[in-house]
Amino acid sequence: MKDIRNFCIIAHVDHGKSTLADRLLENTGTVEKRRMKAQYLDQLELERERGITIKMAPVRMQYKLDDKEYTLNLIDTPGHSDFSYEVSRALEAVDGAILLVDSTQGIQAQTLATFYSAKAAGLKIIGAVNKIDLPSSMLEESIKSTAELIGVEEKDILKISGKTGQGVEDLLKEIIKQVPAPKEDGSPIFKALVFDSFYHEHKGIVANVRVFSGELTDTSSAHLVATNTNFKVKELGHFSPELKTDKKIENNQIGYIATGLKDPDSLKIGDTVISSPASHPISDYKQHALPGYKDPQPVVFVSFYPEDNDEYDDLKKAFSKLRLNDSAIKFEPDFNEFLGRGLKTGFLGRLHFEITAERLEREFNIKTVHSFPSVSYKIKLRDNDDWIEVTNPKDFPMDYLEAMEPTAKIKILSPAIYLGSVMGLQEVFRIKNMVTESIGNAVLITASIPLSELIRDFDDQLKSVSAGFASLSYEVADYEKAKVAKLGILVAGHDVSGLTRIVHKEDVEREGRKSVEKLKNLLPKQQFAQSLQATSNGKIIARENIPAMKKDVTGHLYGGDRTRKMKLWKKQKRGKEKLKGLASKSKINVPANVFRELLKK
Ligand code: GTP
Repeated sequence: MKDIRNFCIIAHVDHGKSTLADRLLENTGTVEKRRMKAQYLDQLELERERGITIKMAPVRMQYKLDDKEYTLNLIDTPGHSDFSYEVSRALEAVDGAILLVDSTQGIQAQTLATFYSAKAAGLKIIGAVNKIDLPSSMLEESIKSTAELIGVEEKDILKISGKTGQGVEDLLKEIIKQVPAPKEDGSPIFKALVFDSFYHEHKGIVANVRVFSGELTDTSSAHLVATNTNFKVKELGHFSPELKTDKKIENNQIGYIATGLKDPDSLKIGDTVISSPASHPISDYKQHALPGYKDPQPVVFVSFYPEDNDEYDDLKKAFSKLRLNDSAIKFEPDFNEFLGRGLKTGFLGRLHFEITAERLEREFNIKTVHSFPSVSYKIKLRDNDDWIEVTNPKDFPMDYLEAMEPTAKIKILSPAIYLGSVMGLQEVFRIKNMVTESIGNAVLITASIPLSELIRDFDDQLKSVSAGFASLSYEVADYEKAKVAKLGILVAGHDVSGLTRIVHKEDVEREGRKSVEKLKNLLPKQQFAQSLQATSNGKIIARENIPAMKKDVTGHLYGGDRTRKMKLWKKQKRGKEKLKGLASKSKINVPANVFRELLKK
């Protein structure tokens, strides 16, 4: 049997994972030089444009060392905290990890976070400092700190350049030497972990799998344990990185199984595919299920509405298909008086939500409008002992006895010279419990922040006060007491619930004023004057006015017949007063683009 090594590349954002993967594809002859393009494994158009990896990407490579042929299965992973669920799933499918550190940046926050996850998953970790083609005053420091982190000697840290290919051949050899061959399970039953999936127009739902025992042929029938679904294999194979068909997929390999199934609910990421000889009773399947994954908990909630109301069903279908490829997305039906039917959706972070909005437009051609991203609050009302959970701002009570909000534990790694500027963000973002610790020339700051503040624009601000050098990783933590209030917006006396937000009590007036001022410039004029009011706790806290559209009712009159003009003006005034009384909800027009502009970060 050919020898197999299953591994992934983990690193902080932009430390060069996808570029290193390019060189591995090239050196192993997996992708011919003429077909090579930068960040080859970033298959989504959005990933290539933004230069960030969103999805993990598997690929099989063949490599010969000392006359022996090896199969190397690589999974490239994303670097941003919002996508750490992708990373955690990849870690369960492999036996080793290359921890890549940009030698011009040194260890950054996500380097630490992914290192500890890989260690907890029991993987063999190979340290490599990257970008050594660039002049760097930090090279020695990067090698030293990476060696200390992993607990190896400095000479064991590889020095490479993903760009020029320097050191990549040595890295390939080390992967074969150091990453253990997969353990034999010994069970004759085919068992494979579904670590990802996607929808293919002709092949149906395709499961990306790591096989843990047995083999499956392309003519077999199989079973999905969690959803209790049988299917006949439509096609199977491996990633090259494009789909490449095989006759069978066997133990320890990473590959795909096209199920032919069309219903997106019939497959769950983390499920086990089991071969299904007719004699197997269903109860048998469950006992063979692999441990799978923890269900990811969404923490940022946003309502989406199709810009064109007829597209609601398309929006729902699009989300179902996206969920196959991104199991962290959660959604349920929602309704907005101006925007119609939509979906209330949950995400793992703000970037996760922004990326999904863009994917909807690019991959499914659906333009959407969405509400303010919100977190979930726990509320205790005055007349009830129970806590209620509120994820949609419009359901937030006007008055309450106690409120709790989710917090996040953040880790910031910053060069020591920016420590003062980073500390300066404490008040603005209501950061608490800051603890600092020196790590070489850097400072590791651990603190707690309300999740609502984190998703505002903390990441951008951190980059801006540290000239891009401070880096962030976070994980969602416990609920804590919160002083928050509901901020509502009334247009011509009518509550536009899609614009309701939950804000910190101290910010409510400033935010209210900002919202009505912005709205004044955005809303189209009507034939009646429109009052714009921001409200909180039953009180009006800010107010603006949009005057009625001016219509020249006397323009057609020549000369100076003053009495005629007066008569027409009076008639117009009466008409306007009547209209004002009639400024019913149906007459108020809040176009989709107004929502979009107002909700911009
Ligand atoms: P994410 O997936 O978004 O976390 O990024 P990544 O870790 O995959 O990094 P990527 O490969 O996209 O590289 C980030 C940037 O660094 C790109 O502009 C690359 O061209 C550049 N880069 C990567 N490796 C090297 C290297 O060895 N030398 C030089 N000079 N630049 C590199």
